Amino acid sequence: MILRFICLAGVLMTSTFSSAADDVIRTPFGKTKEGEAVDIFTLQNSKGMKVRLITFGATIQSIEVPDNKGKMADVIVGFDTLEGFLTEHPYFGGTIGRVCNRIGNAKFSLDGKEYSLAANNGPHSLHGGKKGFDRKNWIAESIITTNDRGVRFTRTSADGEEGYPGNVRLGVTFTLTNDNALRIEYDAITDKSTPINLTNHAYFNLAGSGNGTILDHQIMINATQQTATDETLIPTGKLAPVAGTPIDFTKYGKIGARIKEIKATPVGYDHNYVLEASSKDLKAPAAVVREPNSGRVMEVYTTEPGLQFYTGNFLDGTIKGKKGATYNQYNGFCLESQHYPDSVNKKEFPSTILKPGEKFSSTTTYKFLTVAE
Ligand code: GLA
Repeated sequence: MILRFICLAGVLMTSTFSSAADDVIRTPFGKTKEGEAVDIFTLQNSKGMKVRLITFGATIQSIEVPDNKGKMADVIVGFDTLEGFLTEHPYFGGTIGRVCNRIGNAKFSLDGKEYSLAANNGPHSLHGGKKGFDRKNWIAESIITTNDRGVRFTRTSADGEEGYPGNVRLGVTFTLTNDNALRIEYDAITDKSTPINLTNHAYFNLAGSGNGTILDHQIMINATQQTATDETLIPTGKLAPVAGTPIDFTKYGKIGARIKEIKATPVGYDHNYVLEASSKDLKAPAAVVREPNSGRVMEVYTTEPGLQFYTGNFLDGTIKGKKGATYNQYNGFCLESQHYPDSVNKKEFPSTILKPGEKFSSTTTYKFLTVAE
């Protein structure tokens, strides 16, 4: 009796272990222009959901999730090969830092010193500069626990990298859980005070990547305010109510319903929402997106105070993506969790300064489910 139990426990343990180990497969994906080896990790959970991550940019390469009939599709807009990711592209799936979004006039002052950054968005700095975290090859290790599997990416951003102060040790841990959620946990420490604001720039299309526009998707964003901006998308420092405007998604609305009313060139959503306090403890979603034909639903949870909703306004058909698809305007949407844009120059916004001795941490989860037709 006792022997049988031990034996059974042994078998159970072995099977749990081997199935978890098989769930993270690391394979070579090519080399950067500098000759660094890039690897791709394939994670698979007990439901068959698959996520692929690459060391270049700590990038989400694909997410395969079922529709309401069980049919799988890759919902990530991007590339099949490393060559694609090495070209100039609008941040497909990448980890963005040291400071995501914009820093006005590409400069800031900290502890009485002025810092100048590369202006790569008109006069402003966007998404970490000329060679942000999304263009760096990260160190990676797989993490396997009884129920979950993941990859931890690490690197040190040296003092002076892209003009920012301090050596920053970074970690980004992606975990695929058995309830079809991809959790992203960021951590950082520094030896000098520095601004830090990290996000992921995945473009989603819940009908499947390359499968038309996202204009029929329905979205709800748990925010009654946005950070008001000038026409170059630099916040004024004021918060503005969304009520009565085309950016009000406090109730589900079709992304395409009022998009043409947005006054921007090119036309589309590119707004930072001020999330309601109820989303901060990860219990209430910051946003939910539904695709009516497939029934696929994505919920976004985050500890961050802001969410940039971007509808791929700049995609113009010039990029050849997965399976030869060309990506046109509105072929994907981004929900980038973050602190507000230009926080380093806005005393009234929650601070993005990380000081020596402190630990930065932030969590965002993209959870997938389906609803019946
Ligand atoms: C962010 C910005 C957009 C644009 C895209 C990438 O979402 O807010 O303005 O730069 O990245 O093209």
